[in-house]
Amino acid sequence: AQAEKGGYDHFMLKEIHEQPRALKDTLSGRIAPDGSRVVLNEINIPQEQLQQINKVVITACGTAFHAGLVGKYVIETLARIPVEADIASELRYRNPLIDKNTLVIVISQSGETADTLAALREARRKGARVIAVTNVVDSSVARDADDVLYTWAGPEIAVASTKAYITQLLSMYLLGLYLAQSRGTLEDKEITQIITDLRKLPDKVASILENGTNIKEFVQKHCNCEHAFFIGRGLDYAVAMEGSLKLKEISYIHAEAYAAGELKHGTLALIVKDVPVVALVTQQALYDKTVSNIKEVKAREATVLAVASRGLEEVAKVADEVLYIPRTHQMLTTILAVVPMQLLAYYMAVSRKCDVDQPRNLAKSVTVE
Ligand code: G6P
Repeated sequence: AQAEKGGYDHFMLKEIHEQPRALKDTLSGRIAPDGSRVVLNEINIPQEQLQQINKVVITACGTAFHAGLVGKYVIETLARIPVEADIASELRYRNPLIDKNTLVIVISQSGETADTLAALREARRKGARVIAVTNVVDSSVARDADDVLYTWAGPEIAVASTKAYITQLLSMYLLGLYLAQSRGTLEDKEITQIITDLRKLPDKVASILENGTNIKEFVQKHCNCEHAFFIGRGLDYAVAMEGSLKLKEISYIHAEAYAAGELKHGTLALIVKDVPVVALVTQQALYDKTVSNIKEVKAREATVLAVASRGLEEVAKVADEVLYIPRTHQMLTTILAVVPMQLLAYYMAVSRKCDVDQPRNLAKSVTVE
């Protein structure tokens, strides 16, 4: 088993380090040689049907659902179509408003999650076109969908999803661009710019992995905490939800993600001296707003670890510690910001002597309800 871990202590750490490669493989062959367009040959929706789509519904469970939340934001922004993201176990029982003009995107690493598969079948029964985003070739979800966009993360062994998630995020950007191209909602130069920045992401993820050390210091200080909070706005909120889930799953620390602007409506009551708060600050347009939320938790003496984009260094004045991620297109920050979230959860779990790869009560794939 040690050999299978490729020299790493756990599969999770190995898989975190495989992310640059996983991103490259998922991008490979999906961009025109001149970098001007996304090309998804595996998706065969007739042009006529594409034009009729008036709503997108994204459904998934767990970490894959968090990729769906990013998908909602990205597809709405790029392709200007209303997008709903819903947990599969909710969607399947609520008689959702889905018809032949709905495009349903189902996300599943394993392609075998019972609720996700049931939601897919329900969507097809209602006449929707269904695209599956999955990591397992010929999985049930892949077989039952109309079109399949494979993530090429390779086999994921650790229960907590990392490299599969990052390739699901990338797939949301690819689908967003694909839909934008077919609907003409973006100018050519915007598409080219986003693609240029997308292609640089694997190397940027690699650079974050090379500088992972200050996370260990933060972990040393806070590994005995009972509660932790994750805050952010917009895309940063979606990443906060994933950061919180990762921490819960493998370190058993109670964690909550909050849209930073919602703090005042409840969570602030729980912010006391030394509680760790992870603040995501990657969105220039929301920078001032999030900084004022950081000040609110600092006023209650929380300890703030900010994860911020380069260029937003002013955050160091309000946070206790800052981990910087490289600059990229404002919409692509999720792929970089999630990496410190994964490392934080990983090192917390290790220092609390938890079973990182096999957390209690959890399974890699939930094939029964
Ligand atoms: C389980 C796993 C999670 C995963 C979720 C959905 O809960 O522990 O890591 O995100 O199932 O799995 P799927 O294979 O459908 O992505």
